[in-house]
Amino acid sequence: MTIEFVAFGTLTVVALLLLRKFIRYRSLYPFLPRKYNFGKRRNTLRATLALLEERNARVLVETGTARLGLRKTKGDGASTVVFGLWAKHHAAQLHSVDIDPEAISQARAAVAELNLSDSVSFHVADSVAFLQQLTEPVDFLYLDSYDYDKRDPAVQRASQAHHLKEFAAIEGRLHDGSIVLIDDCDQPGGGKGKLVIAKMRGTGWRVLASDYQVLLVRDGGASADVQVTV
Ligand SMILES: C[S@@+](CC[C@H](N)C(=O)[O-])C[C@H]1O[C@@H](n2cnc3c(N)ncnc32)[C@H](O)[C@@H]1O
Repeated sequence: MTIEFVAFGTLTVVALLLLRKFIRYRSLYPFLPRKYNFGKRRNTLRATLALLEERNARVLVETGTARLGLRKTKGDGASTVVFGLWAKHHAAQLHSVDIDPEAISQARAAVAELNLSDSVSFHVADSVAFLQQLTEPVDFLYLDSYDYDKRDPAVQRASQAHHLKEFAAIEGRLHDGSIVLIDDCDQPGGGKGKLVIAKMRGTGWRVLASDYQVLLVRDGGASADVQVTV
């Protein structure tokens, strides 16, 4: 009786663990094969890709390149591959900036392997300096540079301040139809977007989806009525 009870309990725990893993497994299929798990970013990435399509985005800019390529999509997000692939399918161009040459080299290799090189321009630079010298209108901005630390308030403040500076540097190139996505927001201390989202909300931007990532559009801009469920 006791052995049966223990066996039943063990089986139940294993089943629950498998179910949990299955529920948390979130791919971007058919955009990318099912084997890539985008976890907590999947729904906001899907919403962003739909919005890019709807608004006919052509110039995409990201800070913080996909240093792991398509490895660990659940951890870092593989943004350069995701947005680079979208750019290739829609005759758009992605600019990816990172201060670390090794990160750029890893992302460049992943992009080349998928034959996306013509659609992605890489820039080794401090993101703020890079954004300041951009002159063309930016349709989509993804902020995911200065690494956040869940446990270190000093790093949190520095990361938040850096992302705010990035936004200030590019604000003049954003237009009514621009889309902004910010990574690592649902974190202790407010995440990377804490300061920049507050600033954006006060200057005519509206949060369209708020999850681990936060998606924003300009209030009253094109497609202001779009509904996003994450
Ligand atoms: C979280 S990773 C980016 C992950 C990537 N977006 C993805 O989806 O895989 C953060 C990156 O920001 C870069 N970074 C940190 N500080 C930076 C700065 N001041 N300017 C540009 N890039 C910076 C780091 O080198 C690192 O590669």
